[in-house]
Amino acid sequence: NWTTGNVIEEQVAAIREQVGDRRAICGLSGGVDSAVAAALVQKAIGSQLTCVYVDHGLMRKGETEQVEKDFVAATGVQLKVVDAEERFLKALAGVSDPEEKRKIIGREFIRVFEQAQAEIIADQGPAVEFLVQGTLYPDVVESGGGTGTANIKSHHNVGGLPEDLEFKLVEPLRKLFKDEVRMVGQELGLPDEIVQRQPFPGPGLGIRIVGDVTKERLDLLREADAIAREELTAAGLDRDIWQCPVVLLADVRSVGVQGDGRTYGHPIVLRPVSSEDAMTADWSRLPYDVLARISTRITNEVKDVNRVVLDVTSKPPGTIEWE
Ligand code: XMP
Repeated sequence: NWTTGNVIEEQVAAIREQVGDRRAICGLSGGVDSAVAAALVQKAIGSQLTCVYVDHGLMRKGETEQVEKDFVAATGVQLKVVDAEERFLKALAGVSDPEEKRKIIGREFIRVFEQAQAEIIADQGPAVEFLVQGTLYPDVVESGGGTGTANIKSHHNVGGLPEDLEFKLVEPLRKLFKDEVRMVGQELGLPDEIVQRQPFPGPGLGIRIVGDVTKERLDLLREADAIAREELTAAGLDRDIWQCPVVLLADVRSVGVQGDGRTYGHPIVLRPVSSEDAMTADWSRLPYDVLARISTRITNEVKDVNRVVLDVTSKPPGTIEWE
């Protein structure tokens, strides 16, 4: 019979059996799956595991710190953080086409990750044979059930594997659904902010700026997004909505009046949706008072934003993300 305790015991034994006295690498994205996979492997083989976190500078406020501090504190995992913000910003400079952005972010991510892998192998030697992946049961089904090595579909995830993969895969979540993964994560003592995190796209805030991506725009969007998340959490709405992208229309300006006079600033879009699986979605009917608080705070607290608009489009025809 299924209990999280059984799953953990069973997986810990299987991981020990598979890895033996060799070593493994795991990429952390800040998301639930990679965090729980890493925590399980850490429980099984401890310091034989090294985690890698690529900070692409496109994360939301506080998320990198959550991985660097809270996740490490909860698991004791050995973590290599690569600060690649400058590299990503440089590669993205002047690019406003959504697909182009995704390609650049995916490409840079793989390069940086491979570089980190190479450094770990140089450091720890040829015993580094395994790569941990947070593959879930629905991913296994979707990709045809293959196991073991390189035949993982690249998904539309920046965590996508390099083509010439030579690692053996450790996939301790292959039999689990998302809600089960969350239970396992909770049982392993991971912080709620990680275990209960709503979906967030791999390319991060890079695809939530309509227009080209700059540090200044990212900082602005981070502030607006943090306010929206804070108010939604305070209103107890996190479990009711699937996710709420906050989008900066960086190429759009409108006239406003703030403080001493006329402003000419950018709109922020709120895109709260309810969904079962992200394939289809409906816009969430959020309480007006919550929307009002978010709007007031964003226009008061975020420089250069003078308007907040609500996206009331279902999917289809709209996608959840704007890019
Ligand atoms: P769309 O915008 O296609 O999004 O309706 C569906 C779900 O997927 C997430 N999403 C992504 N996740 N890499 C990811 O890991 C991506 O490139 C990506 N694009 C969209 C989106 O947040 C939503 O949950």
